[in-house]
Amino acid sequence: MRYDPIPNSLFIKNRANFIAQMKPNSIAILTSNDVKHNNADDVMGFAQNNDLFYLSGIDQEETILVLYPDAVKAENRTILFVKETNEHIKIWDGEKLTKKQATQVSGIDRVEWTTNFEMTLQYMAFEADGFYLGHNEHLKRVTKDQETQQDRMIAWCKKKYPLHEYYRVAKITRDLRPIKSKEEIEQIQKAVDISIEGLKKVLKACQSGMKEYELEAELTYVFTKSGATRHAFKPIVASGKNACALHYNINDAICNDGEMLLLDFGVCYANYNSDTTRCFPVNGTFSDRQKEVYSSVLHCLKEGSKLLKPGMMHAEYEKNMATLVETELIKLGLLNADEIASQDPKKPLYKKYFMHGTAHHIGLDVHDVGLYSRNIEEGMVFTCEPGIYIPEEGIGCRLENDYLITKDGNINLTEAMPIEIDEIEALMN
Ligand code: GLY
Ligand code: MN
Ligand code: MN
Repeated sequence: MRYDPIPNSLFIKNRANFIAQMKPNSIAILTSNDVKHNNADDVMGFAQNNDLFYLSGIDQEETILVLYPDAVKAENRTILFVKETNEHIKIWDGEKLTKKQATQVSGIDRVEWTTNFEMTLQYMAFEADGFYLGHNEHLKRVTKDQETQQDRMIAWCKKKYPLHEYYRVAKITRDLRPIKSKEEIEQIQKAVDISIEGLKKVLKACQSGMKEYELEAELTYVFTKSGATRHAFKPIVASGKNACALHYNINDAICNDGEMLLLDFGVCYANYNSDTTRCFPVNGTFSDRQKEVYSSVLHCLKEGSKLLKPGMMHAEYEKNMATLVETELIKLGLLNADEIASQDPKKPLYKKYFMHGTAHHIGLDVHDVGLYSRNIEEGMVFTCEPGIYIPEEGIGCRLENDYLITKDGNINLTEAMPIEIDEIEALMN
């Protein structure tokens, strides 16, 4: 394991909370993700299904978790299925979890080999009334061209047990996962701490004439050396006008003297993520205009993040943030107040320079699960990421921090990441 083990008390508690929301006499089945293949026998790697991880802590492929809290036999109430190793796997891939290790990680006493799943379930299925199954319910980007392990489980289960009731695991996990436990916040903080070291390395390394990917390499070096599992997402290293493409990540352009660079990057540590953005001048000194735009965005971040507190409605927060940015756009000479007064409210003018939302849940997913119709609550972790994008000036600026919501307000988990203009310049020069 690259990361320090998370106490299994977290997963025991998560299962208890999940079970408390299950309908009577139902079975929940959670599967791991596939190892993704690209060409021939090469693989893109493995990232665990986050709902399965949340309830078990198991970070291995071909894992299945079965929860049947109302099972007559106590031994059937929680069963973890893990991949049985053999000489071939040992020779080519190395060690897999033993049953004892799987118990230590998850806190689950009954561990079986995955090959026994169907037979074991058979005995329990006839006693139960329904199944909870997992599915990717991401708001916008649900895969439709890829069959996942979850899709296969749904198809198999419905064919084999067509007359049971079916329910959604995601409906429960999207309710539980937004409220982070102490152990989860610790992992996010570790991810943030590594990302701070990464940023400092990039600021020291940045020189006019470098390729954007050379700065990506500095991040990768620090992250890997610090025990991060991976980048939380492919980092955006966007110089000049590239920063105006919100999810630019080819990172193959030259960083030119006089340009500002936008770095949107995150660390995945123990499957928990950070997500932060900083902007800095390629040559180490902000121009007057870059300073103006940067200061505007920083003002929006400082003021907007104060709104992230219990009771705030997400839509209301975004509306307030839009007003903050709009005011700055007027100050920067990009919009004028008269035009705004007569604008079509369905097409606000600020959207030309600021076109995205500024707070998302973060945790096991970078854009973590959770309903945005639910008010902000203590224990949630949100990003705050206002931006101003001016392609005609070759400037795109976004600043992004991560905040833990507390009883009365929030704590900036990214407080130690340099952000003030003089701090950034000092580190670069
Ligand atoms: N890195 C993607 C985002 O900031 O949401
Ligand atoms: Mn980001
Ligand atoms: Mn973000």
